Amino acid sequence: MTEPTVVTLADPDACSLAAAERIIEILDVAIDDHDEAHWVTTGGSTPAAIYHHLAQTSLRDELDWRKVHLWWTDDRFVPPDHPLSNAKIADEILLSPHRPGEAATGGVPIPLDQVHQFETNVAIGEGHDPDWCAHRYAEDLQADGPDPNDDGWPVFDLILLGVGSDGHILSVFPNSPAFDRREWALGVAAPTHVEPHVARVTLNPAIVPAAAELLVVSHGDGKAAILRDILRGERNVRALPAQLARRPGATWIVDREAARLL
Ligand code: 6PG
Repeated sequence: MTEPTVVTLADPDACSLAAAERIIEILDVAIDDHDEAHWVTTGGSTPAAIYHHLAQTSLRDELDWRKVHLWWTDDRFVPPDHPLSNAKIADEILLSPHRPGEAATGGVPIPLDQVHQFETNVAIGEGHDPDWCAHRYAEDLQADGPDPNDDGWPVFDLILLGVGSDGHILSVFPNSPAFDRREWALGVAAPTHVEPHVARVTLNPAIVPAAAELLVVSHGDGKAAILRDILRGERNVRALPAQLARRPGATWIVDREAARLL
């Protein structure tokens, strides 16, 4: 079998709940197996609803979050409190949800030193570029990340992915030069063909095939055509980076609208 598992559910919220439950399952197995779990989360529009479900006590209390390390596939090269920051979404919904003016309540209790954001605040504050920020992240990965495989790529227990409208994942766009680089993390020039048009920092696409488990979540009619191309079309990962997740060990959770052309 060379194809991933595709689960089609009724609507976006059913997808987000199923993804949250699957994240708990995968991280729990990893913790049972080697007493820690390294989870790389995505940015974009997909994770917020998933984080909401994870931060609810019914799911949150099913996992020993003290054993979890949280990483990001990519981020925009903006301060962590900027509206475009992927880290901001996780901080406000998953890690320390709080109402304005009130103390943080709930949220999953991952130890602060195990939440590994791209240090865009330091990079921007000190006048460095995205490559500098990516190099810092790679150093953090070397120090605190999962062991690398025989090919030299860190083996994450789980990577959560969304799929861009152009078939990108992480901040690896079609025909990205990242496919020919060996660094674990890279700076990316602002894309002009997809929003937002801001510079990025991203993990290398090679970490996707290396991962133990992949969970791809995509919904909405706007993704139907690209999902058809990715999951049913000719394999060409440089043209369609999301095809790196078209493999066994990957679960794709999609809603009926996004699955319309499959
Ligand atoms: C980002 C995300 C991004 C992601 C796709 C997912 O920083 O924007 O990490 O690269 O892979 O955008 O697509 P959706 O935003 O539609 O979920």
